[in-house]
Amino acid sequence: MTYANAGLVEPSLNALQHIPGDDGPPVVGLTFRLLANPKGEVERLAARHGPVYRSRAFGLRTISLLGPDANEFVLFDRQKLFSSGEGWNPFLGRLFPRGLMLLDFDEHRLHRKALSVAFKTEPMRSYLNGLNAGLARGVALWLGRPGPMLFYPAIKQLTLDLAATSFFGRDLGPDAEPLKRAFIDMVAASVTPIRIALPGTAMARGVAGRRFMVEFLGRESEARRQGDGEDLFTHLCQASTDEGRLLSVEEIIDHMSFLMMAAHDTLTSSFTSFVWFLCENPAWQTRLREEIVALNLPRGAPLPYERLDELPLTEMAFKEALRLIPPVPAIPRRAVRETEFHGFRIPAGTRVSVNPIFTHHMPEVWPEPEKFDPLRFSEENSRGRHKFAFVPYGGGAHMCLGLHFAYMQAKCFAYHLLGAAEAAVAPGYRPDWRLWPIPKPRDGLPLTLQALG
Ligand code: HEM
Repeated sequence: MTYANAGLVEPSLNALQHIPGDDGPPVVGLTFRLLANPKGEVERLAARHGPVYRSRAFGLRTISLLGPDANEFVLFDRQKLFSSGEGWNPFLGRLFPRGLMLLDFDEHRLHRKALSVAFKTEPMRSYLNGLNAGLARGVALWLGRPGPMLFYPAIKQLTLDLAATSFFGRDLGPDAEPLKRAFIDMVAASVTPIRIALPGTAMARGVAGRRFMVEFLGRESEARRQGDGEDLFTHLCQASTDEGRLLSVEEIIDHMSFLMMAAHDTLTSSFTSFVWFLCENPAWQTRLREEIVALNLPRGAPLPYERLDELPLTEMAFKEALRLIPPVPAIPRRAVRETEFHGFRIPAGTRVSVNPIFTHHMPEVWPEPEKFDPLRFSEENSRGRHKFAFVPYGGGAHMCLGLHFAYMQAKCFAYHLLGAAEAAVAPGYRPDWRLWPIPKPRDGLPLTLQALG
């Protein structure tokens, strides 16, 4: 069962008074401070109150638990103390109800197993075909336009087009544009501060988007049950649970909408920071290009699935971008039973949060934390590091199901982009990152792509 209706009550301030912290100003709490500078605010609160502290933002009182041990305690969750559904529900429940991250414990395990068929080797190989074609086309299109480009909106559009292929597999015809629109509106609504669907608001557009999505996916799913497509949607329509039943149309709708959301902004954000760090560190850009050239494939040829492992530096550089700017900066949960961490009692019903972005910048774990140094992820340098020090994909039962998909797409992206072009920003340029809810450069990251001779 999910714990959305499990009768958990919010503990009173009194019940949490023993945990040091700061409610901030009445009504708004620390919402605006967190929105303005989420990393700085968490670091400020940690410096003042320590690695376990209480705060209030977005109308919710939360206990933050910081650092690798806290990540392990909450995410690995040996004792099944923390509900992911209850943690994410205030943000995602309305538009992405019953997505995988919104389910808990036994029910979650059942659905996760059913969904994992779509991430096995054969389906992945087939998604890579689509990614190769789409990325080669996308990069060629960028290179065909003279002058500087705004990278963030360009990669956002390309990621959406690529998802349409790997998720749906065929030309969607007149449904393609409304589907993309519906999806963008749903994602925007899931993070809007105004949670009521008043006319003209992002929430109203999100609710309309979900209506379209439900209608479209419902209409298509019956046909795909019998189809022989190799796309993710077809895999889901044919997936069955351990109990031997096919997923229902409603379940498929909820899983598909959630998967698109989980994949889209995370990939857009991480590819943007990846490219930025390669522009800021041209020597690394050159090293990755050398690794790509050493594959000895004809220029623009598809990157074969079997050769993904031959790009270890590319993977390390992508990991380093994920460390510095994790696309999911904080991960919420809710305690379903009373527990204790570092001597602090945490009552049942308490909202807790772990913080990848804080952990990824702890100088005691990551020396010179602001420096871009992909070699931190070499086998030798990773030895002895806490297993929960690097958590861009979370960890434990809810660890990102699309992690291998993300690495595959990142390598394919780097292969096509760096194999064809050199990316550079204007001298002295530094992007201003808006970190919450998903990191993006406020100015869209202007850069130039110079075709390689
Ligand atoms: C760099 C890219 C990505 C990052 C950083 C990322 C990050 C995350 C994180 C932090 C979680 C766990 C949240 C929690 O524990 O509450 C998660 C879960 C998930 N992600 Fe990703 N993600 C990425 C790409 C993808 C892609 C490409 C897909 C699908 C194709 C995907 C599908 C999912 C799913 C289904 C879950 C829920 C897993 C569960 O609850 O069992 N993600 N992701």
